[in-house]
Amino acid sequence: MKILGINASPRKKANTQTLVEAVLEGASEKGAQTRLVNLREMDINGCLGCEGCKKHLGKCVQKDDLTTLLQEMTAYDAIVMGTPVYWYHVTSQFKMLVDRLYCFMELEENSETGEQTIRAEFPAGKKFIFLISRGDPEPAEIFPQLYDHMNEWLNLIPLSLGAGSYEFFHQYGAHIDRKSARNDAGLLEKARAAGSGLVS
Ligand SMILES: Cc1cc2nc3c(=O)[nH]c(=O)nc-3n(C[C@H](O)[C@H](O)[C@H](O)COP(=O)(O)O)c2cc1C
Repeated sequence: MKILGINASPRKKANTQTLVEAVLEGASEKGAQTRLVNLREMDINGCLGCEGCKKHLGKCVQKDDLTTLLQEMTAYDAIVMGTPVYWYHVTSQFKMLVDRLYCFMELEENSETGEQTIRAEFPAGKKFIFLISRGDPEPAEIFPQLYDHMNEWLNLIPLSLGAGSYEFFHQYGAHIDRKSARNDAGLLEKARAAGSGLVS
């Protein structure tokens, strides 16, 4: 089984990376082949909205590291996508990746009813873990309901891609301490268990 970890934190070896690595470790102990990519080290750009991918579905016309990563994602059995929460949402690096997944999407129209649905030209049945590290505790201190939209939005990614299964892994109360995940043995153990659970 091949598992890809994607870290969308701009901070090196901070909480998100630590936890994505722990998930991959747990999977690797069960025999999975794993790989971590850090978006902060890559040349990445947002979607241009050029619709070039609609002529060659699944192929983004841009030439940057995300184009390569998008192709690589199709070859893995499971994908761990990690992001810190920034301003009650994912980081801009994470959003750029998700926007670029548009290259796999096409609108299908029912010729009889005219109803439009989104179809993804992306291998179905992959397992996903969405790993989210945030400063706020749970329940959140100031505006708890403001995280709802992010969680609802994250659900749309695996649903649009035809995932086989998906789950969420949260770190709450990290504040701004980049070592808080590293210093939390219980959380690291849970992350390793989530990784071993990916390996069927
Ligand atoms: C620009 C910025 C915005 C943030 N916004 C939030 C937020 O809205 N809610 C929250 O709980 N934490 C917020 N945080 C804290 C981070 O989510 C938290 O420190 C997280 O652990 C960072 O992950 P990392 O260590 O992998 O970089 C913010 C941090 C930064 C730098």
